[in-house]
Amino acid sequence: MIANANHEGFVPRLEKIWLAIGGAMLVIFIMILLISAISMGAAPPSSMDMVDPQSVLVKGEFATPALVKTGPLTYTAHMAAYTFGFSPSTMTVPVGAKVTFRIATHDVVHGFEIPGTDVNVMVIPGYVSEVSHTFTKAGTYLALCNEFCGIGHQYMFMTITVK
Ligand code: CUA
Repeated sequence: MIANANHEGFVPRLEKIWLAIGGAMLVIFIMILLISAISMGAAPPSSMDMVDPQSVLVKGEFATPALVKTGPLTYTAHMAAYTFGFSPSTMTVPVGAKVTFRIATHDVVHGFEIPGTDVNVMVIPGYVSEVSHTFTKAGTYLALCNEFCGIGHQYMFMTITVK
């Protein structure tokens, strides 16, 4: 065999080095993932809490969706997503407010995205989606459903006024 002619064995030496580097990178990436997930608590931004989709909008925190002030500049928005809208459909917070959105739905998969921010979650029946954002700039923010959910999907939005 040609490879054996150079007394390098079946896998040439350079290939072995690159295989070792590739393997080491894989191990490092997996270690980073494990460390961030286990000791730093990194997790997906949604689908951590389970709820009963049949009753989620009838009783509990989503039965009366509202923006609740939890501190000097912190808020929790308990939101219902449904075909085709969000409740509440408007909210106003001061500049610098950190809003934690908790969103649930009782029908089909929706999305909750605020373009220009890092807020973008799926809203899945049976789960509570949770995402936080600090609004540092004044203005009117549009929040949209970005998962096709039916004939009125394009009308599914709400607005957040920051002033
Ligand atoms: Cu809800 Cu598209």
